[in-house]
Amino acid sequence: MNAIEFINRKTNNFNPEIGVILGSGLGDLASEFTSIKICYDEIEGFKKSTVKGHAGKLVFAEVFGKKVVFMQGRYHFYEGYNVKDVVYPIKILKLLGVKSLIITNAAGGLNTDFEKGSLMLIEDHINFTAQNPLIGANDETLGERFPDMGEIYSKDLIKLAKKVSEKLGIKLEQGVYIGVTGPSYETPSEVRMFKMLGASAVGMSTVNEAIYANYLGLKILGISCITNFASGLSREKLTHKDVVETANKVKSDFKNLIKEIVKEL
Ligand code: HPA
Repeated sequence: MNAIEFINRKTNNFNPEIGVILGSGLGDLASEFTSIKICYDEIEGFKKSTVKGHAGKLVFAEVFGKKVVFMQGRYHFYEGYNVKDVVYPIKILKLLGVKSLIITNAAGGLNTDFEKGSLMLIEDHINFTAQNPLIGANDETLGERFPDMGEIYSKDLIKLAKKVSEKLGIKLEQGVYIGVTGPSYETPSEVRMFKMLGASAVGMSTVNEAIYANYLGLKILGISCITNFASGLSREKLTHKDVVETANKVKSDFKNLIKEIVKEL
């Protein structure tokens, strides 16, 4: 069955207005709410997610009266999917009624003033993946051929997130996210280059999703959890386990922040 029909039937026409993509180690935010869950592999067009810490479910829940769909787990280009598969769930979210999208991720810190475990608002990104989800025939009913990318991350939502974080006493950094394909972490020389390019955090997701969501006309808020210093900036060897562990440590601040942002949206 067609993905939209299937989801509408399963959720009794829930029609979410807000989407939240949960990054590595951040997925269990969705478990807190009474919800309807649908596994990705039940939905037409969705692929199986393969990364540890990514459950692969759409979770539909009311949060402070707002209708939210959480993506518990996402697709990464490094898993072997093409970039169209990576962004396909965002198209479905849009067709279900989502207007605002909160994209979260785990990222390596390039700015040495950041602490391990800090949260960073993404003010803009650099797409260093050499991919673009809009390559190919354009569906004019979804968006334009040459979409403007002058304000991918909504200034209004950044302002809102800052206001909320001050109220909650949660420190929020801000900076540019540079997206790479992974799955290998960067070399110290690449990290030096990324710093020179003006990026504050590096990660293996988000940029293609954000390009696509912006093309669809969604309002986007991006938040990175800085799980580690990027390669060469500390003596520690990088492991996915440490990334997930750090994300787990900041989970409670992260959850409170997202909930409060959703409330104010
Ligand atoms: N580099 C790329 N992606 C990441 C990192 C990193 O250091 N940490 C978490 N995701």
